[in-house]
Amino acid sequence: MHIQVTSPNTAYYLELENRFGAHNYHPLPVVLDRGEGVYLWDVDGKKYYDFLSGYSAVNQGHCHPAILATLIEQSKRLTLTSRAFHNNLLGEYEKYITGYFGYDKVLPMNTGVEGGETAIKLARRWAYTQKGVVENKAKIIFAEGNFWGRTLAAISASTDPSSYKGFGPFMPGFEIVPYNDLVALEKAFQDPNVAAFMVEPIQGEAGVVLPDEGYLKKVSTLCQEYNVLFIADEIQTGLARTGKMLACDHENVRPDILILGKALSGGFLPVSAVLADDHIMMNIQPGEHGSTYGGNPLACAVAMTALRVLKEEQMAENAEKMGHLFRSELSKLKSSFIKTIRGKGLLNAIVISHANPEAAWELCLALKDLGLLAKPTHGDKIRFAPPLIITKDQILESVAIIEKGLSGL
Ligand SMILES: Cc1ncc(COP(=O)(O)O)c(C=O)c1O
Repeated sequence: MHIQVTSPNTAYYLELENRFGAHNYHPLPVVLDRGEGVYLWDVDGKKYYDFLSGYSAVNQGHCHPAILATLIEQSKRLTLTSRAFHNNLLGEYEKYITGYFGYDKVLPMNTGVEGGETAIKLARRWAYTQKGVVENKAKIIFAEGNFWGRTLAAISASTDPSSYKGFGPFMPGFEIVPYNDLVALEKAFQDPNVAAFMVEPIQGEAGVVLPDEGYLKKVSTLCQEYNVLFIADEIQTGLARTGKMLACDHENVRPDILILGKALSGGFLPVSAVLADDHIMMNIQPGEHGSTYGGNPLACAVAMTALRVLKEEQMAENAEKMGHLFRSELSKLKSSFIKTIRGKGLLNAIVISHANPEAAWELCLALKDLGLLAKPTHGDKIRFAPPLIITKDQILESVAIIEKGLSGL
């Protein structure tokens, strides 16, 4: 058992959470109270590089000034109307985001998992009204290792026992195929009741697992061939994270349903969106789907600015460049503890090889002490995903910190 030395200040906040909060997370023992750009500060004033970016929600950097200004300005005018009435920002936002990504329509939600739920409802409804699937027979295919959140539908699709075990019974009509396996996918598509294949272009929570080049292109072709909807969950991979606006852009594929979340607000509030064309979206009638906060004017204003700054500040281009630099500098370390370095843009991970099964956690604790925050996933993998505004010097300094951390293992 690792004994963590924390300041009295930190210990106080850890104890508060321990005492009064549900124990459904296992965070690093650091208590943060400020963020700016690529940096975070703890309650004792210690400064860190943020190499998690709120699970890729803070692509634009902490407290981005333009997004913050929009948030403040809009908060003073109007924050929530519900969809019982119209507001003057929803239409503007819908026009902006559909133009930005090239779809007929958007359905605004809040969290990422609601985006996934919405996409599946759209696909099932499309299957019944357009494809001719008999009511209640529609099937959705998912890839092994997927992660799209914590609702009962999301965990019904999960292959990770820590997500689903002890929470059944589960959602029917879901089927799993191995990730990056086109033969298995085509076999699953033989069933005429298949409505959709929902997939992450790169599996984030699974540990930044990249499919073979050409996989997404072939997925898209198979979906067209078998009249199955291609749902891309770009909640973690989207919005410039992988070096393009969407990870699907690397293979020039256009999903039938696109799910966005996380960085759609730059880390300010939960905002998600589902984009699709009319032949899919217009099968839902008033009263059949929605959410109290979905499409609220504050979220609409914030999302427009969050999207604008991604382009204005060329964050995809920077992610592409800095990602290459990061991976090449990491590979120069030639550490025997790094089994694998993988990623695209600034969505990267290393796999740790060490006799101690807790080595990845120990390394993250050491990196914290050295001034860099990252978190292990699935035991031996550490994701490195800083905000997309990171500079060359900051990448080099971060790699030096990682080198130091590794040398202490
Ligand atoms: C690919 C993917 N989809 C969906 C989600 C769920 O998003 P949220 O936590 O906002 O519900 C996540 C969260 O990590 C994710 O990585």
